[in-house]
Amino acid sequence: MRKPIVVVGSINLDLVVGADRIPQVGETIIGNSFNTFYGGKGANQAVAAAKLGYPVSMVGNVGNDAFGTQLRDGLENAGVDTTYVNTVEGASGVALITTGRRGENNIVVVPGANGQLTPKLLEKAATILERAGFLLAQLEIPLETVDYLAQFAERHDIPLMLDPAPARELPTALLRRLTWITPNETETLELLKTNFENGDQGSYAAAERLLDCGVKNVLLKLGSRGCLIAQGTLVKERIPAFSVDAVDTTAAGDAFNAGFAVGLMRGSTVVRSAIFASAVAAISVTRPGAQPSMPTGNEVDRFLEQHSITTAQEPSYTRQAR
Ligand code: ATP
Ligand code: RIB
Repeated sequence: MRKPIVVVGSINLDLVVGADRIPQVGETIIGNSFNTFYGGKGANQAVAAAKLGYPVSMVGNVGNDAFGTQLRDGLENAGVDTTYVNTVEGASGVALITTGRRGENNIVVVPGANGQLTPKLLEKAATILERAGFLLAQLEIPLETVDYLAQFAERHDIPLMLDPAPARELPTALLRRLTWITPNETETLELLKTNFENGDQGSYAAAERLLDCGVKNVLLKLGSRGCLIAQGTLVKERIPAFSVDAVDTTAAGDAFNAGFAVGLMRGSTVVRSAIFASAVAAISVTRPGAQPSMPTGNEVDRFLEQHSITTAQEPSYTRQAR
């Protein structure tokens, strides 16, 4: 039997305003649309992996409000096991999102119930955590819980991929326990507190610094520029993004992480898994919303066929010795 992917993270209701552009500080503009979508970085990753056809369990919290029931139902309808989703006193997590015409966004998250996902609740989920083939986490839950998870992963020799979002500094002890870290450009700056030059050279330098911090494998997410992989084994690769018309990039990173984890769990190479992840993310940006934008496995296969990428060939990309 396949070991499940277990996602430990946030579950939010996204309140999304579509506007021509993101307003500036102090500015009022007229929006074009308002929608609610199921979101939360953790739940998005869980739903994306489940829609790709991989067994997924979610460990997280919803509040005992009306949103909580809807959010749990949303996860279950997508095929995510919610046995370890707790209902706690108080409001569910929400995210206030504005999207602009070119797919860009800004987001304010109010964690609510996600802030009550304590290490104690992870202890209660030990049975599923121990069975995990891959653990995925993000930073919309308390840092002490992520730290507990990293120690658990190390003790049980289970790979852990951390999406360090929203951006913040992290203790070196935590970084050393990660199998993969997958920051975007803002998160990389925040982690390293250093500005790097624009373009590939700056990204390579940033990835190298993260390896120096003790993370085993680094995957930098570079938006429409694609992604860059750096591993302790002296390999660095940049994989371009697919060219698509983006309407909403919310949760592109979540789609990517889920696709990457599913690829690796299915035994694909790192590069092939990153190409698969890029396809999952590219499809997601062509659709509005977080969880509704996640593609099925068949949709990704069709997309890859249309872009002349078959499973037989391993495309070659820039590869540099460190
Ligand atoms: P988010 O916070 O919006 O969920 P992120 O900032 O964590 O995303 P990004 O680097 O923006 O992550 O995007 C993740 C991946 O999604 C990229 O590496 C790329 O493969 C894909 N992607 C993002 N934007 C686009 C785009 N406009 N066109 C095609 N692919 C994209
Ligand atoms: O990564 C996108 C997600 O960030 C949104 O769904 C929102 O809930 C915030 O958590």
